Amino acid sequence: MKNNSPVSRSGRFAGGPGSDVAQFTESISFDWRLWRQDIVGSMAHAAMLHRIGVLSRAELKAIVNGLNSIGEEIAKGEFRWRPELEDVHMNIEAELTRRAPAGAKLHTGRSRNDQVALDVRLWLRDEIVSLMEELESLQRALVELSAKNAEVVIPGYTHLQRAQPVYLAHHLLAYVEMLERDGQRLADCFGRVNVCPLGSGAIAGSTLPLDRDFVAKELGFVDARGKPIITQNSMDAVSDRDFVVEFCGAGALIAVHLSRLAEDIILWVSSEFGFIKIADAYTTGSSLMPQKKNPDIAELTRGKAGRVFGNLVALLTLLKGLPMTYNRDLQEDKERLFDTADTVRSSVRLMAAMLGHTTVNAKVCAAAAGDPALLATDLADYLVRQGMPFRQAHHVVGAVVALAERLNKPLNGLTLAELQSVDKSFGPDALKVFDLKRALAQRNLTGAPGTKEVQRQLARWRKRLSK
Ligand code: ARG
Repeated sequence: MKNNSPVSRSGRFAGGPGSDVAQFTESISFDWRLWRQDIVGSMAHAAMLHRIGVLSRAELKAIVNGLNSIGEEIAKGEFRWRPELEDVHMNIEAELTRRAPAGAKLHTGRSRNDQVALDVRLWLRDEIVSLMEELESLQRALVELSAKNAEVVIPGYTHLQRAQPVYLAHHLLAYVEMLERDGQRLADCFGRVNVCPLGSGAIAGSTLPLDRDFVAKELGFVDARGKPIITQNSMDAVSDRDFVVEFCGAGALIAVHLSRLAEDIILWVSSEFGFIKIADAYTTGSSLMPQKKNPDIAELTRGKAGRVFGNLVALLTLLKGLPMTYNRDLQEDKERLFDTADTVRSSVRLMAAMLGHTTVNAKVCAAAAGDPALLATDLADYLVRQGMPFRQAHHVVGAVVALAERLNKPLNGLTLAELQSVDKSFGPDALKVFDLKRALAQRNLTGAPGTKEVQRQLARWRKRLSK
């Protein structure tokens, strides 16, 4: 393959790279996705070069027009990407220069090292905003499913063993809380992504009087008061990708939360639980077993967490031990970043859509929640109210549970005499403990699954998530 890159290699290099080398080193097959950011960044840089007298008005106009027409062609899928030009930056600049000679001045005071850092930051800023919106949609889907089934009670589990009764809404709102923190992590990450590296050059800035603040403002790298935010060390700016790691870390936690939700859905939709039903359109069948309806969206969401974690570890490993400053290794950041962004965003979106098409089987839930053993702790609390130390109450109720098992009766099927045969502290009101409605009405600590408290939390989330 002939080297026809007019930008990077002319002068120093006699010939172009061999085709195997070009194939090994190219990034255009994936970094073409940065084209919008590359063009917007170049326009801001050109505007600044005009401002400081490097570009005439006519040259600026030619560059802006050229970039605009290239952008339109890319958007329409008509632009021919040339792998021999390595990456998105060279492709666009070379084509611009072919169309407008002034394009040859565009790279003044700029290096691909600060250019790529800029493009990735611009791209990630948009991605974070979009992902935060999708996270809210998922929260909304969870809140709506909760509100629609506000009366439904299910067993809460620890060790996947029935523990205590909870409203289904309480269980689902737990995920809304996790997703809220995920959103906060992304917002926090945004603050460190939103810093303009342009003007750092290849490693050591520039001898030209570049106006870094102007470029930063043009590109929206500003704080709440509109003050430009720019990187403070050129070597740091071109060589660190900690903001990419941070995003992929936040994405990995989202994947953790989604995979837990997915696992609950998978359990609940099984015949063994039968708590919920997913609409046909959001399930798949089996090629062999005609009766099967599988929760593939939830399973894939659970499975895709693996590659999201892999991306994070790959990025940490990529950065570890890299000598200052830019090294070509850094080109490996983009596929991992894109993959995490795409995977997490589509998982969030599909889980939200699936939950919007999920119904709850209230009867099955009621039967499961009706297990009186779920209220054994309430019986211990009853004894505590009679003045018994909790450790002793725990022991007494344990003996009551054993007695019920021996008599082959449900816990609430024991007579007062049978209860009193274990301990005299049980009074005639002891059996009221097994009234589920009453039991739930009594759990009104902040954060508890009490009737009033869950209603309050639901109202709070509805308000918080109303658009
Ligand atoms: N494609 C490169 C990357 O993704 C752009 C920067 C290349 N800089 C260089 N000096 N070779 O990192």
